[in-house]
This record gives sequence, structure tokens and C-alpha cells, in this order.
Amino acid sequence: MTRLSVNINKVALLRNSRGGKLPNLFQVAKDCEYFGAQGITVHPRPDERHIRYSDIAPLGKIVKTEFNIEGNPTRSFLDLVLKNKPHQATLVPDDPGQLTSDSGWDTIKDKDFLTDVTAELKAAGIRVSLFVDPEEKYVEGAKAVGADRIELYTGKYAENYRADREKAVSSHAACAKLAEQVGIGVNAGHDLNLENLAFYRQKLPNLLEVSIGHALISDALYYGLETTIKMYLRLLR
Ligand code: PXP
Repeated sequence: MTRLSVNINKVALLRNSRGGKLPNLFQVAKDCEYFGAQGITVHPRPDERHIRYSDIAPLGKIVKTEFNIEGNPTRSFLDLVLKNKPHQATLVPDDPGQLTSDSGWDTIKDKDFLTDVTAELKAAGIRVSLFVDPEEKYVEGAKAVGADRIELYTGKYAENYRADREKAVSSHAACAKLAEQVGIGVNAGHDLNLENLAFYRQKLPNLLEVSIGHALISDALYYGLETTIKMYLRLLR
């Protein structure tokens, strides 16, 4: 089974746009779980334009499924994660002002740094996933630094899906296969949606988790959150 972790950054963005508490991020997190999501993902960025650092502790108490915190492992990010002990930390090499994550780690070049931060998080009982582009050398590199999982960056897959979906998924399928051989789990995320998700799932039988935010929250404007989550869950079965 592939778990659906709902990324609620966009809900926080909407809340912050008016400076108040609407929509209520915490109620949304609870409801996503109630509607069947198997995880909640947040990606606090240094400018706190959506998830704020102060959202993390209350979310940590509310989330009963799997809490996943993504981000660039700066010292302040690592301290936040260590203090709140989510089930999983997904490490992403994004710049402070970046609009969204658009490439993964070079797990070979950054080996020493990633080995240290992975060990630090794992010592606190937190599962570590590394965001990587779908290249086999990065899967091997992630295994070598001690990560539990990789999160395959699916932005390019989504971009090329309509033109040639077999070609778009092939590097992902190869990485997933290698991941199974070397003994590292596989997550995926970025631009996954109702159109491209089922095929991706079908081609990566060992896909453990997807984290989806932008498209899912956009779909919820039309279908409502409950129906939308159920639609995504159906594609993952
Ligand atoms: N994975 C990572 C590392 C991300 O940065 C994001 C976006 O915050 C996602 C997954 C989810 O992407 P999307 O919002 O396009 O579903």
C-alpha cells in the first residue's frame, strides 16, 4: 500500500494571507486524517510564508497518523525537528527564498554533511528521507549516508507525463527497483495529481508514500476536501 501524506502548506499560505486563523490549519490536519489521509506533511521555510515554526509543536500533538517535516537541514531546522520528533524528516536542499523545491541532493558530493545530519536525526528516533532526482547514483549515495528512504522528485515526471508517460516514469521505476535491491525505502512527491498518480503508483510497486499538496488542495476547491482525499486514496490502492 502507498500512503498518502497531505502537504498542508497551501492551507497555511491562505491563512497567512489575512493574518488571522482562517482556515484553521490544525482542524484541517485533523480532518485530513479523519477523511483517510495516512500522514500530514509540512515544509517550514525560513521566511515562514506558509507553515510557521510555531505551527509545528501543536501539529505534532494533533497528528495521529504520520507526521513528516520537510526542509533544508539548517541548524534551526534540525533543532526544530529534534524538539518535535516527527515520525519522518525529509531533507531537501532548497534555497531560503525558493518558490518550491525543484531538485534533489547530490548524495555523493554532499556525503559527509548528509551522513552527519542523518545520524543526528536517526539517533533521536526520526526516520530520514532524502529528496533526490531520479538517478541511480543518488539512490546508492542515499543508502551510503545511512538514510532510511529516498523521496523521488516527481516534478519532471509530471511535466513530461502527457508527452510520453512511459519515458517520464522510466528513471523513477529504475531507481525504485535499485532502492529495493539495496534496501532503502521509496517515497515520492512534487506535482503529483489526479491525472498522473495512478500510473506512477502502478510503475513503482514498492512506493511507500507520496506527499501531495498543491494539486490536492486545488482539487479540494472543486470537490471538497473529503471527496478529494478519497479520490487520491482510490488511485493509490
Ligand atoms: N516534496 C517536497 C520535498 C516538496 O518540497 C513539496 C512541495 O512543498 C512536495 C513534495 C509536494 O509537492 P506538491 O505541492 O507539488 O504536491
